[in-house]
Amino acid sequence: MIGERVREQAAGALPAFVYDLAGLRAHVAGIAAALDGAAELFYAAKANPEPPVLRALAPHVAGIEVASGGELAHVRAVLPDARIAFGGPGKTDEELRAALEHRVERVHVESPYELRRLTAIARAADRRADVLLRVNLAGGRAGAALAMSGPFGMDPEAIEECRPILEAAPHVRLRGVHAHLASGLDADAMLAQSARVLDWARDWLSGLGVDRPEFNLGGGMAVDYTDPARRFDWAAHATGLRALARPGETLRIEPGRAVTVYGGWYLTDVLDIKRAHGEWYAVLRGGTMHLRTPVTKNHDHPFTVLHQGGSGPRAGQPNTGEPVTLVGQLCTPKDVFARRVDAGQLAVGDVVAFAMAGAYAWNISHHDFLMHPKPRFTYLD
Ligand SMILES: Cc1ncc(COP(=O)(O)O)c(C=O)c1O
Repeated sequence: MIGERVREQAAGALPAFVYDLAGLRAHVAGIAAALDGAAELFYAAKANPEPPVLRALAPHVAGIEVASGGELAHVRAVLPDARIAFGGPGKTDEELRAALEHRVERVHVESPYELRRLTAIARAADRRADVLLRVNLAGGRAGAALAMSGPFGMDPEAIEECRPILEAAPHVRLRGVHAHLASGLDADAMLAQSARVLDWARDWLSGLGVDRPEFNLGGGMAVDYTDPARRFDWAAHATGLRALARPGETLRIEPGRAVTVYGGWYLTDVLDIKRAHGEWYAVLRGGTMHLRTPVTKNHDHPFTVLHQGGSGPRAGQPNTGEPVTLVGQLCTPKDVFARRVDAGQLAVGDVVAFAMAGAYAWNISHHDFLMHPKPRFTYLD
């Protein structure tokens, strides 16, 4: 539901990303309260690394997960004291060095080769690196929106190669296992996946004598773009995690999308309305170069029309109910926010407020394509 303060932003320059920081704070506080210590909550900065967003989240999360040297430097600058976990494939030597310099608490190691290089870098710097090995278990991704199969982490065979490297590396301390196997899982599917990871990882770590092991069970908690009101069941997840946990272990999760997606809106106005081959189209200011999410997810992005008493071909006509496709200003048929949707009596000048624009939105979009003006950014405290 669009709040009054977001609605008021329709009167300002458009397009605009509007972040409801008060709503975001309340949402993340609710997640933390539901978890109630069942797992440490890290936030995956890749979902939305904007400084006001990070600062709003910081008091409610245990730490931040970063996936590049760029994110690491950014998060360290915005939150100098945050606990940071550094994951992601293809870390360069410079990034591994930066991990030590920026006091990263855990490095999530992606391959035996990366572990070898980290070992040499830690030795040369005479610094200790605390690591989780990222495991990539086979199968069992049913129901996932995105399965992280392929080059992410190590299969059990590759992890086995890490054993002798670790045994010969006093500067690298193995603290546990990391896994992020899929995105878009509901609480039941997430718990089933976590149980599989724990089963495998406990066995493997006990063979190495790891004391007080840590298990980072990843992110990927589902959000439902067809129904913004339907939320991931954090309380059920916490109950399930508590049942899985054993004394002396630390469980950690690192969601991104489910934390910030509801806190952002993309507001834009209708520039033109036309009919082509029997179909209605509304051309909106801006486009998917600002909000790429509907293209990457191939979905109809949820929206609310804020009528402004506008004009244009459909205004005042009895065509309410005829579906309309909402497109942007790009010269590509892929620039579509939503296809053949019910937008009521949409008129030129009306404002369309896209919900769920707080994660994987602006920061994953190709901003410079066609050189249209950049959106306004407003952070409502
Ligand atoms: C390693 C890792 N952790 C966490 C996340 C966050 O996932 P989500 O935003 O779906 O919660 C991702 C997303 O790709 C990831 O790759």
